[in-house]
Amino acid sequence: MKEPTFRPAPAPETFNPAEPAEFAPVNFASDNVTGVAPEILEAIVEANRPQGAWPYGNDDVTGGLNERFSELFDTEAIVYPVATGTAANALCLSLVAQPFNTVYCLKHSHTNEDEGGAPEFYTNGAKLVPVPAADGKMTAAALEAAIGEVGGGGARLPHVMEAAAVSIAQVTECGTVYSVDEVQDICAVARANGLFVHLDGARFANAVAALGCEPSEITWQAGIDLMSFGATKNGAMAAEAVLLFNEDLEETLSRRRMRGGHLFSKMRFVSAQLARYVEDGLWLQLAANANAMADRLAAGLAEIDEIAIEYPVDANMIFAALPGDIAERLRDAGFDFYDWGDPDRPNIRLVCAFNTDADDVDRFVEAARR
Ligand SMILES: Cc1ncc(COP(=O)(O)O)c(C=O)c1O
Repeated sequence: MKEPTFRPAPAPETFNPAEPAEFAPVNFASDNVTGVAPEILEAIVEANRPQGAWPYGNDDVTGGLNERFSELFDTEAIVYPVATGTAANALCLSLVAQPFNTVYCLKHSHTNEDEGGAPEFYTNGAKLVPVPAADGKMTAAALEAAIGEVGGGGARLPHVMEAAAVSIAQVTECGTVYSVDEVQDICAVARANGLFVHLDGARFANAVAALGCEPSEITWQAGIDLMSFGATKNGAMAAEAVLLFNEDLEETLSRRRMRGGHLFSKMRFVSAQLARYVEDGLWLQLAANANAMADRLAAGLAEIDEIAIEYPVDANMIFAALPGDIAERLRDAGFDFYDWGDPDRPNIRLVCAFNTDADDVDRFVEAARR
């Protein structure tokens, strides 16, 4: 299946809150157009204690994160809060790739195409090497072939760059979800070639909710060494984390986080979001709504002849090919979304979120059908 060109169009002109549409504009452009889940907002307020707290992560909330995440992942996990997924990815890769190393990823991965060179910057020049994808996923076989091509072996060193790591995203950029077996197979190839495996989990909650598995099964038990654990897209204000399952990497992470400008003096406000996010299963409840709404939306759109859904809708993202007049009608009706690729066969991306409303989904389908 063809890969879309991952170039979001500028925000559509129709998105002007000053001009009320028939009903309030509903924005399906991304899951980061949303506000903050009330539970997380409350946790931020709760962290705002008049007596203050020790800075730079020496507060109680940050101090409790390792234990919380260790329980959640059923192993010793080390948590370093950061504010963006780009920072989490770039910091992670800087721990496993030297300037003379390569990192296997996908062409359309966020790391390769959407982070402005942050991974290259943080690694001081490691090279990202794209592996062919199917439905947004790397396969173990494609990884193995790519490793063979570049010459993972040492015969041509120091002329070639040496492979050091693999980075995959879960949920993928096409909205698909790797099964536990698929992740295990990729990690097995990586392990056999001495490579670390990084997981970009900007939408990790949506993947776990979709798979119905334990977080451990799809991460360290499958062979993931470290991950970017996302929360912002699923209800936090700005909270992501570098999560290590390998304690040997922590000292370097500590230095790199400081050097990279991500050691927050008021860390507790980021930590409070993460702590609440994983408490009482909130993260999975929020993700379950996003996934259920995407299912509902995909099912409704699939009944319309002129609309083709491009990839399996495994989680909370839909890529659809639809004629321009339908897209225009939807925008006129007050819906926003990104154009995504091919101008001859307009492609749009629709993303559902933790607070997407079923009535809005149904109105979208209705407006598309008319
Ligand atoms: C797959 C993926 N990884 C990481 C990110 C994190 O990016 P940001 O730096 O905007 O938080 C995003 C955001 O769009 C994403 O889609």
